[in-house]
Amino acid sequence: MDSFAIISFPNPTTLPTAVAALLILLLIMKHLLFHSSKKRNYPPVAGTIFHMLFNLHRISEHQTSLSRKYKTFRILTPFGNYVFTVDPDNVEYILKTNFSNYGKGDINYQVMSDFLGDGIFAVDGDKWRQQRKIASFEFSTKVLRDYSSRAFKNYALKLTEIISKVASSNQMMDIQDLLMKFSLDSIFKIGFGVELGVLSGLQEGKAFSKAFDEASCQIVHRLVDIFWKVKRFLNIGSE
Ligand SMILES: *[C@@H]1O[C@H](CO)[C@@H](O)[C@H](O)[C@H]1NC(C)=O
Repeated sequence: MDSFAIISFPNPTTLPTAVAALLILLLIMKHLLFHSSKKRNYPPVAGTIFHMLFNLHRISEHQTSLSRKYKTFRILTPFGNYVFTVDPDNVEYILKTNFSNYGKGDINYQVMSDFLGDGIFAVDGDKWRQQRKIASFEFSTKVLRDYSSRAFKNYALKLTEIISKVASSNQMMDIQDLLMKFSLDSIFKIGFGVELGVLSGLQEGKAFSKAFDEASCQIVHRLVDIFWKVKRFLNIGSE
């Protein structure tokens, strides 16, 4: 949750609340006008993007409690709806059975490409397939597999040293932070052959992981901030 705490929002004042209420009303009207004749089985609406925005500082808890209530649900936004699911059957359908029908889409590409470029996590189609092919060598070629398990083992060893030191001195530790550092170090070694040194506290590694964390937060922020493009254009606020 730490990563979300960096972003802070003003308390909802009357104006944004009124704007939000108006937009929700428009959405409902649009929904009634254009969808009433279709007999499609849409998942229930669990809220709007404004609910997500107001709960951004506790977004995991917020989304978790919604998913306990509805296993699959919709979040309305002015430009399209988000569908969330924790139903294993749906997850299998999306990630496997009908994978080609569930691209990331242009909106996600726009949100992520400043950070991830045309990387595998931002693109669809041929661009995705080509990178996926390259990445899968990682897991199929013996030489690479041996190399990466050696790297993972080395960093796991480093991680256990840190943990046992903290444990024996009876201090508190942030396990998410440690695991993030472990992942970064491992991925850098395996992917780029570079010793980033986040776990061992090297200055460059620290600076990189901080920047990476902040950029990730910014991406999450964009997903719930409908004005992000305006802000980027004007070079203001969170952008
Ligand atoms: C995948 O989705 C498309 C479009 O909704 C549908 O026509 C097709 O039958 C689906 N395929 C499978 C295997 O469910």
